Amino acid sequence: MKIAIPKERREHEKRVAASPETVKKFVGLGVEVIVEAGAGLTSSFSDQEYKDAGASIAGDAAAALKDADVVLKVQRPLTKAEGGPDEVSMMKKGATLLAILAPLQNKDQVQAYADAGIEAHAMELVPRISRAQSMDVLSSQSNLAGYKAVLDAASVYGKGMPMMMTAAGTVAPAKAFIMGVGVAGLQAIATARRLGAIVTATDVRAATKEQVESLGAKFIMVESDESGDGEGGYAKEMSEEYKKKQADLVFDHVKKQDIVITTALIPGREAPILISDEMLAVMKPGSVIVDLAVEAGGNVTQSKPGEIVETENGVLIVGHYNVPSRLASDASALFSKNLLNFLQPMINKENGSLAMDWEDEIILGTGLTKDGKIVHPLLTEGGN
Ligand code: NAI
Repeated sequence: MKIAIPKERREHEKRVAASPETVKKFVGLGVEVIVEAGAGLTSSFSDQEYKDAGASIAGDAAAALKDADVVLKVQRPLTKAEGGPDEVSMMKKGATLLAILAPLQNKDQVQAYADAGIEAHAMELVPRISRAQSMDVLSSQSNLAGYKAVLDAASVYGKGMPMMMTAAGTVAPAKAFIMGVGVAGLQAIATARRLGAIVTATDVRAATKEQVESLGAKFIMVESDESGDGEGGYAKEMSEEYKKKQADLVFDHVKKQDIVITTALIPGREAPILISDEMLAVMKPGSVIVDLAVEAGGNVTQSKPGEIVETENGVLIVGHYNVPSRLASDASALFSKNLLNFLQPMINKENGSLAMDWEDEIILGTGLTKDGKIVHPLLTEGGN
C-alpha cells in the first residue's frame, strides 16, 4: 500500500497531515510513504527528516498522488473553481482520502469524490466515544487553539497578565473570562491561569462547572432548569428566554473584564452570538476579545475573520483565521497522530495492506463515499 502526503495549498494553512514520526510508524507497518517536496516546511519538518523516516519525496502533487492508495490531507482537496490544481482529479480511482472535509458545506465536492471513485472519510466526524479519543482531530486542534488564543490576547493587550509587585508599585492581575468550556475553553482557562490572570468561565452545559473549578477558575452560569447538553457531548441551541438571561449575566460581567476568549460552537449551525454591540459598548478601553468561533459566524457581533477590529470605545476584537495553524508544528504532529491512530487498526500487519472495516462505528461515522456512491446518513438522509 502507498500513502501520499501532498502539500496543503489553501490560504492560511501551514499544517501537514503526516509528521516524520508518523511516517516512520507507517513505514514500520510495511506501508510505502510518498511526501510531496516541501510539504512539511511550514510545520518545521524538512524533506530530509521525512526521508530519514523512510519516505520517498515526490517533485509535485501529481507525482505524489498518482499511484497512492491512501491520501492524507489536513483540508479538503482544492478544486479548479477555487483557483487550484484540481487535486481530486490527480487521485486514482479507488483511493481512500482522509481529511477535514466539511461535507455539509461542500455537498458538490462529496459528489465529486463519489464520481471519481474515491472513498472519502471526514475526520471531523469521528464519533465522540472513548475508543476514538486518540483519533479526534477537533479535539487535538481545539486544545492548541485554546492555548494560542490566550497568547494572541496577551500579545495585543497593552498591560501585563500577572500581578507584579515592584518598588514602583503594583501591577494588577488581568481578569480573563472564557466563554464556552469545551476542549479549547479548558485549555484557555489553564493557559490564562498559568499567565497569572484571574479567570472566570461560563458554558451552557452544567457538567463543565466542576471542570472549570478543578482548574482553579470561577464558574458563572445562568440559573435555569434548561440543560444545554445536546447529542454526543456537544451543546444544543438554547431558548430565547435562556439567551436573554445569559445576555444580562454577561452584560454585567464583561464590564469588568480585561480579556475575553469566546469558543462557543453548536454543530451544524452558526455559532451563537455571546457578545452583542451593547456589551462591547460597556467594555473597558484596551480590553481584548479573541473570537475563536469567528470562522463559524462568530460569537461577537463585530468580529471579522482575519482581522483585529478596534471598536469605537477602544476594545480590540481578534479574529485570526485557522488558529491551530498558527502553531503549525505541534498542530501537525497531533493531527498526524490522529490519522495514524485512525488507520493503524485497519492495516494488515503481515503485508501492509488496508482493509477498512465498514462494520466499525468509527468508519461508519466518518465514511462519506464508497464504491462510487454517497453513503453517509448526514447526506443521504438529508440531515444538516
Ligand atoms: P465545541 O467546540 O462544540 O463547543 C465549545 C463549547 O461551547 C462547548 O463546551 C459548548 O457547550 C459551549 N457552548 C455552546 N453554545 C454556548 C452558549 N450559547 N453559551 C456558552 N457556551 C456555549 O465543544 P468541544 O470542545 O468539541 O467539546 C464538547 C464536549 O465533547 C466536551 O465535553 C468534551 O470533553 C467532549 N469531547 C469528547 C471526546 C471523546 O469522548 N472522544 C473528544 C472531544 C471532546
